[in-house]
Amino acid sequence: MTNPSLLILPGDGIGPEVMAEVRKIIDWYGAKRDMAFDVSEDLVGGAAYDKHGTPLHDDTMAKAQEVDAVLLGAVGGPKYDDLDFSVKPERGLLRLRKEMDLFANLRPAQCFDALADFSSLKKDVVAGLDIMIVRELTSGIYFGEPRGIIEEGNERVGINTQRYTESEIARVAKAAFELARRRGNKVCSMEKANVMESGILWRDVVTEVHQAEYSDVELSHMYADAGAMQLCRWPKQFDVIVCDNLFGDILSDTAAMLTGSLGMLPSASLGAPMANGRPKALYEPVHGSAPDIAGQGKANPIACILSFAMALRYSFDQGAEADRLEQAVETVLAQGLRTADLAGEEGVTPVNTSEMGDAIVAALEASV
Ligand code: NAI
Ligand code: MG
Repeated sequence: MTNPSLLILPGDGIGPEVMAEVRKIIDWYGAKRDMAFDVSEDLVGGAAYDKHGTPLHDDTMAKAQEVDAVLLGAVGGPKYDDLDFSVKPERGLLRLRKEMDLFANLRPAQCFDALADFSSLKKDVVAGLDIMIVRELTSGIYFGEPRGIIEEGNERVGINTQRYTESEIARVAKAAFELARRRGNKVCSMEKANVMESGILWRDVVTEVHQAEYSDVELSHMYADAGAMQLCRWPKQFDVIVCDNLFGDILSDTAAMLTGSLGMLPSASLGAPMANGRPKALYEPVHGSAPDIAGQGKANPIACILSFAMALRYSFDQGAEADRLEQAVETVLAQGLRTADLAGEEGVTPVNTSEMGDAIVAALEASV
């Protein structure tokens, strides 16, 4: 049997720094759990632009289409701010998402016990929180036509169009129901069916998919604005939340901040199943290239490490090993280890990026 394949695209800024820590984890799994991956590494973003004059070389794109999973660091930085839009580092990431047709963006909001005090919400509201937002990623108002700024009479008009087909809604709804079956078996679908036709269709199609294939999963519906309030009031009422691109963008950022630092947040973007049954997949931390701390060993590698844990779970069917890795993160946090972004007001001396990675490897080692 061939090893599962992984394409690593560290990117820019702190991307390569946090990815170096993920490499330690991958190496550990290969050496100690008999889980070898065929890892290849390539350039994306500004790093690719510097070498090839494009933020994503065609060969890299082709490789991304073939591997079992792509793991990306971050792209962008002030050096590239004045580049033409067509070759900006972010275009490399957008091209990956678009050409791999990654329609379901998974953003967990999970509260590690040791960080419950770090949240801006009361400890009992967030302690033990473990929810997942599934955001539709390839359609909706960010892509709909017509769009643009036109002249009408003697003023300008800005136009964007929310447009969803049944099949676009059905496939992301299925992704959410499948996920719920592996978690708390509950889906809350959020839209604005009270004021948007696309919301009415959304609610209808989610209900139809539920009745046809997933009636064992508990389904509820909520208006997205009410959902935002409920997320802040009592987030533990949710398990999986599914919504369109725009609401998902806002609600996933809201949910993320319930639990603290940007340096802790992983994500997965999944597409249709490939020939081997695995979904096309891109895993990446939510944060950017953090130019303000790049090159200083200050970056928190946990978001990127937890993104790899999601890869173990969703691309490689290694749920128990994903649990092990998440537990190792919990362990080092419980030991009091903090990178600078988490050290904040506690007055603890922060560890650097590499020390955090080493500690997580040590916790993995202690777990077997
Ligand atoms: P950012 O996420 O890079 O940084 C925001 C703040 O959070 C900074 O103060 C940074 O130091 C801190 N931070 C982020 N990740 C951290 C980590 N792992 N550990 C410790 N602290 C961390 O967002 P910003 O500053 O708006 O953007 C910087 C660049 O990154 C821009 O070029 C932007 O376009 C790009 N970007 C790329 C993304 C991606 O590759 N997916 C996402 C967001 C921004
Ligand atoms: Mg956002």
